[in-house]
Amino acid sequence: MTSPVPFVEQIAAVVDASLKTIAGLTSSEEVAQATPALVGKKSALSQLKSSMGSITDSEERKSAGQALHAAQTSVDAALGAKKSDCEATEMAAQLLREQIDITEHLVSGTSRGRLHLVTQATQRLEDVFIGLGFQVAEGPEVESDFYNFEALNMPKSHPARSMWDTLFVESEEPGSVVLRTHTSPVQIRVMQNWPPPIYAIMPGRVFRRDTPDATHMPVFHQIEGLVIDRNITFKDLAGTIEAFTKAFFGDDFTSRLRPSYFPFTEPSAEFDIRRANGSWIELGGCGMVHPDVLRAGGLDPEEWSGFAFGFGIDRMAKERHNVEDIREMYTNDLRFLRQFSS
Ligand code: PHE
Repeated sequence: MTSPVPFVEQIAAVVDASLKTIAGLTSSEEVAQATPALVGKKSALSQLKSSMGSITDSEERKSAGQALHAAQTSVDAALGAKKSDCEATEMAAQLLREQIDITEHLVSGTSRGRLHLVTQATQRLEDVFIGLGFQVAEGPEVESDFYNFEALNMPKSHPARSMWDTLFVESEEPGSVVLRTHTSPVQIRVMQNWPPPIYAIMPGRVFRRDTPDATHMPVFHQIEGLVIDRNITFKDLAGTIEAFTKAFFGDDFTSRLRPSYFPFTEPSAEFDIRRANGSWIELGGCGMVHPDVLRAGGLDPEEWSGFAFGFGIDRMAKERHNVEDIREMYTNDLRFLRQFSS
């Protein structure tokens, strides 16, 4: 009969095995799974503890108790250390996975792209008008007949509607939904939604049934201006156009107004600007807001008066950069677009 293995040695063996197991754990999930077998009620250490009662010699039992306590402590400590180790590693890995690089890279030789010519022009126009005290508004590109025509003093079958070659959107009531032919419908929306006085500009895309050529595109951009206040006169309109011309093009540019016709302004005018070389560029239309239009916008013409203007942005960008053919701005040829840095 072999003598039983001394208790203290059994403890040492269990500790040894436990520490080896712990050393082999690689994640907090593994630590959690292994914990009951290492320090739980059914662990080898607990079993040793319950068998301690069989030691008859009290001295021996006392030292066995101390050894068991020390064993328990060291296994607990190793397990705890392993757990926090794994958690730290896992947290670091998670942070690494979730990190977002918010530094801006300016690597020389790398192309960062540019704003399109028309976007540059729109932003400059906005800056100039904001400087003159205007606010920026926007409206939908798909418009109702009401906003695009009717509210602008063009009832159904008004001949002036043919001034705009309209693209219609299929709808339940044919002809009632259009791609806006100008930015003027936004005037009505602004009047309906903003309490006067109003000093607003409204840039955006507009659409016309036009065959593309050197000076026309079926999709282009306009900027609308609307001023509504008390006692606004034609002089204010002319003064604003002139102030804008100088602010946008430079002090050596001037503007002029020529009589014209629009159903939504009365009187109406066309405005041109004079280049430094003395030649004139036609820029857009303008006039005093028609009383019917004020009423459609929910304003009393006895109390409020105002002026409006609208012009093409693409045309302006074309003039400013001496682009020969407006179609070139939309063929997305990078060799063309790269010439115009923002
Ligand atoms: N909406 C007109 C056009 O597209 C321009 C305009 C705007 C004229 C405002 C007068 C007042 O031609």
